[in-house]
Amino acid sequence: MRIDHVAIAVSSLDDALETFRTVWGLEPDRVERIESDGVTEAMLPLGDSHLQLLEPTGAESTVAKFIERRGEGLHHIAIGVDDIDAALARLREGGARLVDEAPRPGGGGHRVAFVHPKTTSGVLIELVERHG
Ligand code: CO
Repeated sequence: MRIDHVAIAVSSLDDALETFRTVWGLEPDRVERIESDGVTEAMLPLGDSHLQLLEPTGAESTVAKFIERRGEGLHHIAIGVDDIDAALARLREGGARLVDEAPRPGGGGHRVAFVHPKTTSGVLIELVERHG
């Protein structure tokens, strides 16, 4: 397992991208609107992993509600795994509360599933099995 990405919820992707470009010299290698998650995500390469910036697509997005409640900031940490089905089975067996009972398609065509923060000390965790 490894850190695949760390996700930050932002209210304006344009503003956040401009800041990461000018202050940090980081350019996204992928920007994608994920209708099913109600977000537009930008992936900023950082060594072997990425920073992910998440902008809500509308007021109904869970990320919009997150920002409304807590402001911009750390949204989730994504752990990369080789076999997401096996990882989910192990977590379920260990008593983890899962947001997604089965993997589903995420950004970049990868398979993803979320684990509820209740059983991860208050931090939302995403599992990612990379495609290609
Ligand atoms: Co993510």
